[in-house]
Amino acid sequence: MIFDGSDPSVIERAASALVAGDLVAMPTETVYGLGARADDDLAVGKIFEAKGRPADHPLIVHVADADSVRDFAAWVPPVAVRLVASFWPGPLTIIVPRAAGVATAAAGGQGSIGLRCPSHPVAHALLSAARSAGVPGVAAPSANRFGRLSPTQASHVAAEFGEALMVIDGGSCNLGIESSIVDCTRKHPVLLRPGVLTRAQIEAAAGEPLLDRDGDAPRASGTLEAHYAPRAPLRLMTAPQLQTALQLLAGSPVKLAVYSRVVPSGAWPGVRHRAMPEQAADAAHELFSVLRKFDEEGAQLIWVEHPPATPEWEGVRDRLRRAAAS
Ligand code: TXA
Ligand code: MG
Repeated sequence: MIFDGSDPSVIERAASALVAGDLVAMPTETVYGLGARADDDLAVGKIFEAKGRPADHPLIVHVADADSVRDFAAWVPPVAVRLVASFWPGPLTIIVPRAAGVATAAAGGQGSIGLRCPSHPVAHALLSAARSAGVPGVAAPSANRFGRLSPTQASHVAAEFGEALMVIDGGSCNLGIESSIVDCTRKHPVLLRPGVLTRAQIEAAAGEPLLDRDGDAPRASGTLEAHYAPRAPLRLMTAPQLQTALQLLAGSPVKLAVYSRVVPSGAWPGVRHRAMPEQAADAAHELFSVLRKFDEEGAQLIWVEHPPATPEWEGVRDRLRRAAAS
């Protein structure tokens, strides 16, 4: 059931639900999260069960402020301190060494833990209220079933999990794709998942270059191929490839949806075209809800024009590449 996040009594009620070990879906500036108190392995187990997610996949723990890092981290590497100082509250998750015996289920048994302090006012109000009630942090993966599109509106979450789940409505998520994840547990910082922050922004704050994920990075479902997928198969193409493909498909009964910056020339009756925004931030904001809409409209095939190869599009390119891999 959906509750209005601007109502203080809703925040109190949601905080009580978290204290009691129940699940609460909350808005963040990136996507909606499916939350449970991070210090309660039983409560965290409900997240894995609801999502259908393998229990060895670590979750991000959301905290009210930077001080709360001490509740979960064994120690804080200097590069993590710099990143927190630059980007919290905001769309950056740090992976740091985990304090012994803390949030074991949330960490998926890893020796490290992912921490993020979201900037969304409703998330902040909820995390603060929960902390005052003795909850040091809230484990919350994106509030979608395993392998599906991340939700950017309260209605997306309710549609996926049904009436029994408490969903706090904080409006449509401003950023629209998940946080950037930087692993700070190694000799050099590693970008595990790009988000809306550019590499250059993160590197400037870190004071050193970011390495790319390699084979021995910890398991991370947000980094699996074939993640973030709509139901209909999605293909990425250049604008000329798209034009040619449209010509070849003409007259076929297949329900096609196209998402592109270049508008295909000619008339294509029955083809649903939606313009991709010129700005990366606008495209990120709407990406998952556009794909979800295509699914709802019954698209059988989704063709997307490759976004520009510039740094600010890295997060969107990453999500589309994964959606196309399924
Ligand atoms: O924007 C976001 O980060 C959203 C909102 C709700 O905050 N959350 C999110 O959570 O995307 P989730 O669980 O869908 O993605 C978390 C990612 C996964 O790829 C997970 O494996 C990785 O973070 N992760 C968490 N803890 C980790 C750890 N200790 N080591 C490596 N990866 C970790
Ligand atoms: Mg996810």
